[in-house]
Amino acid sequence: MYYSDVDIDAFNKASKYSSLVKADGNLAYKISVRDHDGNVTDKPVPVRDAAVKYLRGLVQSASSYIGKKVDGAVLAVPTYFTAEQRKALVEVCRDAEIPILQMISEPAAAALSYNLDKGAMPANPQDTTVMVVDVGGSSTDVSIMAVRGGLFVVVGTKHLKEVSGDAMDELLVSHFAEEFKRKTQIDILGDNDRRAIAKLKQACEITKRTLSSAATAPCSVESLSQGVDFTGSINRIRFNIRTAPLYRVLVKAIESLMEECGYTANEIDRVLFVGGAARVPKLQSEVETIFPEGRTEVLSAPEVGELDELIAEGCAMQASLITAGRVKIDDEGSPELDQGIAAPALSKTVGLRLAGDLFLPVVLRDTPVPVSRSVTVSVPPGEAVALFSIYEGTPKPAAEPADDENEEEDAGNSDLKEAEHPSVLMSYTPGTLLGEMTMKLPESAANANVTVEFFVDKQHGLTVTATEVSTKSEAKLKIV
Ligand SMILES: Nc1ncnc2c1ncn2[C@@H]1O[C@H](COP(=O)(O)OP(=O)(O)OP(=O)(O)O)[C@@H](O)[C@H]1O
Ligand SMILES: [Mg+2]
Repeated sequence: MYYSDVDIDAFNKASKYSSLVKADGNLAYKISVRDHDGNVTDKPVPVRDAAVKYLRGLVQSASSYIGKKVDGAVLAVPTYFTAEQRKALVEVCRDAEIPILQMISEPAAAALSYNLDKGAMPANPQDTTVMVVDVGGSSTDVSIMAVRGGLFVVVGTKHLKEVSGDAMDELLVSHFAEEFKRKTQIDILGDNDRRAIAKLKQACEITKRTLSSAATAPCSVESLSQGVDFTGSINRIRFNIRTAPLYRVLVKAIESLMEECGYTANEIDRVLFVGGAARVPKLQSEVETIFPEGRTEVLSAPEVGELDELIAEGCAMQASLITAGRVKIDDEGSPELDQGIAAPALSKTVGLRLAGDLFLPVVLRDTPVPVSRSVTVSVPPGEAVALFSIYEGTPKPAAEPADDENEEEDAGNSDLKEAEHPSVLMSYTPGTLLGEMTMKLPESAANANVTVEFFVDKQHGLTVTATEVSTKSEAKLKIV
């Protein structure tokens, strides 16, 4: 019924854990059952039934843990899930009697768990652009998310099957299998000794985890093959060398995702690590090198929770907000929910040119419109007129050293200053001039503060209103 396009042969070839069959027109797992007499027969268990059973089990253990009935759930789904897959999940939840409060994307759930209370934007602390790097057991997902006024817009994602905790385990298996062969002449890989490989892999997973917090880690398996034990160890440097190809793939994928989305590293306010395998220190440090120091905050340790539980935590936080009535949901359980924003969004960041050829972003790209944002800037004493130059921002290329905000101011243009958030000034240079307006300043003002509001309407028309804080005198400019 669902997954009509699943290639059963390809799945069975790739899957290490289960095999699929078609039973009565439905997809089913092939399960081997042993009866009382020891006879083994294959029994098909429909995928859907297995999923219902699994979810029922999860809810049951959650409910016995908290000592209360679970009466609603927020589900996180990978960004690559199709509408059909989300629909299938909704149906499975219905069969398992789990009321869905909302379905959100995994990176949105992760961002929620990081509790991004202080955004990077002075205009609105809730406006921030994050890169979520989720390194799980079987694959990695990289996403750029525009968090705008509490809304999560997935700008772009990449799903990497080749980078995973599992792939690291496999590389360790090759490393130790070679060592075992050297020591004993027994070639478990060449002989395709599946039992030995599985035992070694289990041991390697523990070795890998240990290496995240220790400089060296042992790996031993009793009776690995032909009754011969294996004892070995590996240090972090060697592990890093073995796993280096994975980090290269990851770094390349992050760079090409940014390129495809038209973002530069300078525009990413935060990188959030998620997933158990993101604990690997070398993976983190390799990703960190992509982003400019002093600009992008790289976070791998949220205040609460463990990396592999962040998505569940984000869902729980969202569920508590929904039940407290602080988040409005318009269509309960709809599989279409929150998969990006259909509303038209601004394609370029707009803002003000400041002294020193700096650009102060006011409304970030990918903000759904209509929208209004404001900033307060100060004009130095002695100025009779303030000049506001409204620009589109051009993202600074990542390679450019982004710390030129201390440069001498250039003469002749606006002397506006915005001193509190130097890091946001590192993202852009003034690109296309959209318009200019002047405002007469009160003579009494020693140091005028002006609030500048940008309003972008549905047709992307921009109205800029400047209001001097003490006298409330106003200037307005409409740019269509
Ligand atoms: N301390 C650690 N150091 C390195 N890797 C770790 C550590 N702890 C857990 N892992 C790895 O994290 C992986 C599991 O992560 P996680 O639970 O996020 O995956 P998942 O969400 O189940 O998988 P996927 O997202 O790929 O479907 C495993 O490969 C595990 O070995
Ligand atoms: Mg995961």
